[in-house]
Amino acid sequence: SISPLKNFVAGGFGGACLLLAGHPLDTIKVRLQTQPKAAQYVLYTGTYDCLRKTVSKEGILGLYKGMGAPLAGVAPMMAISFFGFGLGKQLQQTDPGKPLTHTQIFLSGCLAGVFTTVIVAPGERIKCLLQVRRKSASYCHKLKHRTNRKVFECLLEDVSKNGLYFLTYEYLKHFLTPEGQSVSQLSTPKILLAGGVAGILNWTIALPPDVLKSNFQTAADGKYRGLVDVLRTLLREEGPKALYKGFNAVFLRAFPANAACFLGFEVALKGLNIIAPGW
Ligand SMILES: *[C@@H]1O[C@H](CO)[C@@H](O)[C@H](O)[C@H]1NC(C)=O
Repeated sequence: SISPLKNFVAGGFGGACLLLAGHPLDTIKVRLQTQPKAAQYVLYTGTYDCLRKTVSKEGILGLYKGMGAPLAGVAPMMAISFFGFGLGKQLQQTDPGKPLTHTQIFLSGCLAGVFTTVIVAPGERIKCLLQVRRKSASYCHKLKHRTNRKVFECLLEDVSKNGLYFLTYEYLKHFLTPEGQSVSQLSTPKILLAGGVAGILNWTIALPPDVLKSNFQTAADGKYRGLVDVLRTLLREEGPKALYKGFNAVFLRAFPANAACFLGFEVALKGLNIIAPGW
């Protein structure tokens, strides 16, 4: 049976694991971006050089500097996200012996998205709303109801992305389970693979709209008629890779971070099932 409460605790642990795996890459990215640019002296020549120098001078903990604030945000967010996911599954499960359908898993993931959107990430949502409002306001004041629709679309997009994220993970878990075995016995490397791919897919979907929006917003007035026009121009002039320019670091981080998140979640859930089977 599914326990949203256990999901909450295990999700928080998964969130901490996400950060433990992902934060070192953030540290390196920031150090590379902010190193002094004197021509005669380069502190770090690249990612690996920065990693090596940081660890040899400051130890492994040097990679984890400044992790407190993100940890305080990410762990509760993942706890609530997994809670929503568990609750969604619980609400839709009529017979504990019967696995949920893909649609039901997707909807459970959407519920997780609703929870995080409404509860944990108002800052992020407010930014999203402000962006929408500012742009629409400059078109015409009369478009108020249209703005509301845009805000709704914006939220809907976030929620469905969350549904897809969880669906990808669960789908891959089933896909990687050998015939006749239970999903709950899936090996660690396979859990890591399913989680890592879910993370990569999440960002693969998220990035192109970002690129289009920022190209649209920074272009000279009247250069583009809309986002579709930006897309067409970018594809014609630079090809599909234009949509992912400069995002190597994001992808490099997404795999290990999400792999660690789901593994942490699964391990914690198993532990909780042993120490508190009745919850
Ligand atoms: C999924 O992508 C969004 C960007 O659209 C990002 O904010 C979010 O943190 C990602 N989720 C995970 C678990 O990496």
